[in-house]
Amino acid sequence: MDVARTVEELGDARRVLPGPVGFVPTMGALHRGHVSLVEAARADCASVIASIFVNPTQFGPTEDLARYPRPELQDLAMLEAAGVSLAFLPAVDVMYPEGNATRVRVGGIAERLEGASRPGHFDGVATIVTKLFNLVQPDRAYFGRKDAQQLAVIRQMVRDLDQPVDIVGCPTVRDEDGLALSSRNVYLSAAERAQALSLSRGLRRAAAVYADGVRDATSLRQFVEDEVRAQPLANIDYVSIADATTLEELAGPITGPALLSLAVRFGTTRLIDNVTLGE
Ligand code: PAJ
Repeated sequence: MDVARTVEELGDARRVLPGPVGFVPTMGALHRGHVSLVEAARADCASVIASIFVNPTQFGPTEDLARYPRPELQDLAMLEAAGVSLAFLPAVDVMYPEGNATRVRVGGIAERLEGASRPGHFDGVATIVTKLFNLVQPDRAYFGRKDAQQLAVIRQMVRDLDQPVDIVGCPTVRDEDGLALSSRNVYLSAAERAQALSLSRGLRRAAAVYADGVRDATSLRQFVEDEVRAQPLANIDYVSIADATTLEELAGPITGPALLSLAVRFGTTRLIDNVTLGE
C-alpha cells in the first residue's frame, strides 16, 4: 500500500493505478464499518484509495475536534489488511492552505436534522468531499448509511455540481448487541454504552411495529423516543421520521420510504443512528 501525504504524492501515485478507482473517505479511528466500505469498493473496482483526514471545517466550535481519536499506525495497518492500494493522509494545511476562502454549501436537505443541530457541519463535509473528489478523481465513492443524511447530501451535491463520480451507499455495520459502530463509541463509559443500546433497540422495535402494519408517523417516532427517554443518561437531540428523499418531517400515515433517525447525547458524546422503513 502506498501512502501519500501531499497533493503531489497523491497525484503521482494516482496516475499509475489501474481503473476503475474506488474511493473511501474517512476521518480515521477505523472500525469494521469503514472496512466494509473498502470491501465494497474492492468488489467492484480495480484499485481502492482511502483517505484519513479529521476535517476541522465540519466540527462546531464546541465539538470534539481536539479529542477526536487519531490512531494512525493502527489505521494504516487496517487499510493495508483490507486491500487498499493507496492511502491519502494530508495535514490540515495541505487541505486548507492559508488564504483558502471557498466553501461548498448544499441547501434544502442539508439544513434539516444534523444540519439544524450542527450549523455549518454539512458545509464542511461538502467542501472537503468536493476537494477530495477533485484530487482523487475516483470513478466511484463509497459512503455508509450509518450517516444517512450525509449520504443524501453528497448525492445532492454530486447531482447539482455535475461531479463525475458514482456514489455508492453501504449498509450500517453494528456490534453484536446492535450498537452501530462509530469512532465516537470509545468515548462512552460502560454505563453509557449499555444505555446507548436503546438507540438501535428503539429503531428495531419501530421497524417491527411498521412491519406489523403500523403506518402512523407520530406513533412510530414515539416508539423510539420512549425507548431512549427511559435511559437516565440519555439526552435526546432529535428523533425524526422524514421522507427518505426530501428529509421533510412526516405526520399522519406514511405512504413512501421514510427515514427514522435520531441523535442522542450521553454526556459530551453525541451518537446518531437510523433505519429506513418501506424501501
Ligand atoms: P467517518 O465518520 O470516519 O466515516 C467515514 C465513512 O464511514 C462514512 O461514509 C460513514 O458513513 C461510514 N461509516 C461510519 N460508521 C459506519 C458503520 N457503522 N457502518 C457503515 N459505515 C459506516 O463520515 C465521515 O467520516 C466524514 O464526514 C467524511 C465523509 C470523511 C468527510 O470528512
